Amino acid sequence: MTNNTNTCISDLKDNVGEEVTLAGWLYKSRSSGKVQFLIIRDGTGLCQCIVEKDKIPEELFAQLKRLGQESSLMVTGTVRAEERSVGGFELAVTAAQIVSPATDYPITPKAHGIDFLLKHRHLHLRSQRQWCIGKIRHTVIDAIRRFFNDNGFTLIDTPIFTALAGEDEQTLFEVDYFGSPIHLTQTGQLHLESAAMSFGKVYCFGPTFRAEKSKTRRHLTEFWMVEPEVAFIELDGLLELAENFVSFIAERVLQDNKNELQTLEADIEALEKIKPPFYRLTYTEAVDILTGDKTKEFLAQQLEEFKNQKQQGESRIAELEQPQKGQLKQWQKDKIAAELIELRADLDETSIRIENNPKHAQLAAEFRWGKDLGGSDETIISQMHDKPIFVTHYPKRAKAFYMKADRGNDDVVLNFDMLAPAGFGEIIGGSAREDDYELLLNRIAEQGLEAENYKWYLDLRRYGSVPHGGFGLGVERTVAWLTGERHIRQCIAFPRMMDKIYI
Ligand code: 4AD
Ligand code: MG
Repeated sequence: MTNNTNTCISDLKDNVGEEVTLAGWLYKSRSSGKVQFLIIRDGTGLCQCIVEKDKIPEELFAQLKRLGQESSLMVTGTVRAEERSVGGFELAVTAAQIVSPATDYPITPKAHGIDFLLKHRHLHLRSQRQWCIGKIRHTVIDAIRRFFNDNGFTLIDTPIFTALAGEDEQTLFEVDYFGSPIHLTQTGQLHLESAAMSFGKVYCFGPTFRAEKSKTRRHLTEFWMVEPEVAFIELDGLLELAENFVSFIAERVLQDNKNELQTLEADIEALEKIKPPFYRLTYTEAVDILTGDKTKEFLAQQLEEFKNQKQQGESRIAELEQPQKGQLKQWQKDKIAAELIELRADLDETSIRIENNPKHAQLAAEFRWGKDLGGSDETIISQMHDKPIFVTHYPKRAKAFYMKADRGNDDVVLNFDMLAPAGFGEIIGGSAREDDYELLLNRIAEQGLEAENYKWYLDLRRYGSVPHGGFGLGVERTVAWLTGERHIRQCIAFPRMMDKIYI
C-alpha cells in the first residue's frame, strides 16, 4: 500500500484512457440503485469515481454503499475526461479496497459554527476551504523564499529566545530562561540589522510572538513574519523593494492557484491589478483623508449598504425558516441548514459593522495629527483604494525607537506601512533605521529603554554605520487578503489566539 504506484488526482490529465489506482478518503458519496458516485480526495484534488454494480463483487458494492464520509480507500479504474465532473476527470471503477472505514465523521456536509470547527481543526483541515487556503499559503511562502533567494539576499535565522524588545514592550511573552526572565521574539529585525552589515542583503523568516490583548480578526499571538534588511538603502528603495515583492507573491498565487482562488470565490480581477507602482500617501495626507468630507460621505454610503445587506439577509432567513411544502429529502434539509448557518453568521457580521460604522466615522473625523493610525482608520483608507497603499512618514512619537528621523522634519520618521486594499489593512510595517549613534541613544532614553541592553545594537552605529532599513510582512494577513478570507485565524493551520488555543 505504498504511494509510489498510486496516481495523484492532480496528474489524471496525463492518464486519460489508462487504468490507475487512487488512494484517498471518501469526501462525499451518493447512490442511485445500480450506480454509486464516490467523490474521493487524495490531498491533490477531488475525483468522482463511478462504481457500477455489475463491475465489482456484490459484497464490495454493498460495503462501498455503506461507507462513511472520510473512510480511507483505494480505487482502481479507467480515467476519462468529463468536463462536468469536479476536477474535469472521472474514474470508471473496476476494483476497490477499503483501507479503514470511518463512521460518524463529526464534520458533516451540513454547516457548523466557527467555534465547533476550530475545536475540530485537526479534522477541519480536510475541508475544501481549508485545503485551498493551505495550498495558497504554501505558494505564498515559496514565493517569499524564491523572491529573496533570487535577488541576492542571504537567509539568516534569528533567535526566538531574546532579551531585547524589538517592538512594543506591552506585547512581550515572558519566558523563564533558567531563572532569568527573557522573552519570545516579536521580530528578528535587530539581529538582522547586525547581519546586514556582514552580508549586505539578508532576510529572516519564522514565527513571531506578540501578547496582543486584542481579539480582532487581524491578530494572532503566534504568526509568521518574513523580514528583509538591506544595507545602503533609503526609504524610496524600501518602498520599491516592498511593492516588487508583494507583486511577485500575487503573481505566483495567480499562476499556481487559480483553481483554489476560484473555489474560495476570491476576487481574481483585483489580484490581477497588484502591480507596481502602489499608491503612496504620507501619514499627513492620510489624516487629511480621514478627516475629510469625502470619507464622511463614503462611510455614510457604506452604512446604507450594510443596512440593505442586513434587510436582505433577514428576509432570506425568514423565507428559509418558513415550513416547506411537501416532504424534503435529508440532503435538502442539510442544504437549508447550511445556508441558514452561513446567513446568520453574515448577519451577525453585518450587524457589528452597522454598529461600528458611526464609531469608526467619529474616530476618523476626530483624528488628530500625532496619533498612530488605528485598525479602523487603516480599514477606511484601505477600503477607499483598489491597490495596496503605502502610508509613510508617521509622527516620531507614535513609532518604535529604531526608526530613522526625517532629517528635514524631525517630527516624523522615515517609515512606512503597506495597507492591503478592500479593507484588509496593514500587511507590512517597515522603516529606515536610525543610523546615527547619538540620535539612537537619545531615542532609546526617550522611550525609557535600558541603554545597557542595547549596547550591541548601538555598536552597529559605531563600527561603519550605513543607511539601512527593512520591513516585515505578516504571512497570515497576506494570505487572508489574497484569498479574501476575513479572519486571519483561517490562514494558519493551527491558530494561536488570545482567548483560546483550541488544539
Ligand atoms: O509592523 P510590525 O510590528 O513591524 C515589525 O515587527 C518590524 N520590526 C518589521 C521590520 O521592520 N523588520 O509587524 C510587521 C507585520 C505587520 O505589518 C503584520 O502584517 C504582521 O507583521 N503582524 C501580525 N500578524 C498577525 N498577528 C499579529 N499580532 C501581528 N502583529 C504584526
Ligand atoms: Mg505595524
